[in-house]
Amino acid sequence: MGRLQNKVSLVLGGSGGIGGQIARGFAAEGAKIGIAGRTPEKVDAAVAALRETGAEAIGHTGELIGVRECTAAIDTVIGAFGRIDILVNSQGINVLKPAAEVTEADYDRVLGINLRSVFFACQVAHRHMKDKGGIIINIASLSAHRGWSRASPYAASKHGVLALTRTFAAEWASDNVRVNSITPGFYMTDLNRAMPEARKQSAIGGTPMGRFGTLDELTGTAIFLASDDAKFITGADIAVDGGFLARGI
Ligand SMILES: NC(=O)c1ccc[n+]([C@@H]2O[C@H](COP(=O)([O-])OP(=O)(O)OC[C@H]3O[C@@H](n4cnc5c(N)ncnc54)[C@H](OP(=O)(O)O)[C@@H]3O)[C@@H](O)[C@H]2O)c1
Repeated sequence: MGRLQNKVSLVLGGSGGIGGQIARGFAAEGAKIGIAGRTPEKVDAAVAALRETGAEAIGHTGELIGVRECTAAIDTVIGAFGRIDILVNSQGINVLKPAAEVTEADYDRVLGINLRSVFFACQVAHRHMKDKGGIIINIASLSAHRGWSRASPYAASKHGVLALTRTFAAEWASDNVRVNSITPGFYMTDLNRAMPEARKQSAIGGTPMGRFGTLDELTGTAIFLASDDAKFITGADIAVDGGFLARGI
């Protein structure tokens, strides 16, 4: 019997590196899984890989920007499995350029996917969870805790994710909906595969453990937050960052 046996979870960005890993971890603990992402082939591949392990899984493809798209993703899961118990917001993009060069379109796109969609996905999920309880896990970032050069819209969006996590946690505790976030350190995924070498070395240099994390090192924290072991934890952020945020000089 897994720790998430028969729990219905939806992982937005579940076709990506971190979301995909969390989805596989949840499935291994007995959860039924919905995956949502932008690229149909990636969503299909993630769903097929989960089904091969014996998991019950369903996919949803679409641009996660606002209430309509978030509702559609959640409706897909409820249509397949009858309810939603766990929502993970792992959708995200970055635009790496100096603040002076950021366009309105860059800003709107990053804030739309990284923050607006988180807001409305949480709002719609809460509507379905509030009578029976539920769990929301938002994927934040080190840039939610620090200034982040050449990634100003990204940093703004992730500061916003922490603000939403704490605010929703406070508002929805009485509905038995827990809302927490995870701050990953550096992990090699499509999001940062094109990171310039100097920036990569700076990331490793700033991490006391002296390396990128491996995706499996994130799974346990997500399972913990989704499980009853964390039933008195809400509004918290857990850094899985090899010590990056703890470092002084
Ligand atoms: N990797 C790291 O080191 C790191 C560190 C801190 C925080 N994070 C955060 O972790 C989360 C996951 O990132 P990742 O590293 O796993 O990157 P990733 O592999 O690129 O995954 C991102 C996911 O978001 C989806 N997505 C992007 N734009 C979308 C849109 N408009 N509509 C629907 N889905 C969309 C992607 O789908 P497509 O692939 O089809 O575009 C993919 O499933 C993000 O919130 C990111 O900010 C990552």
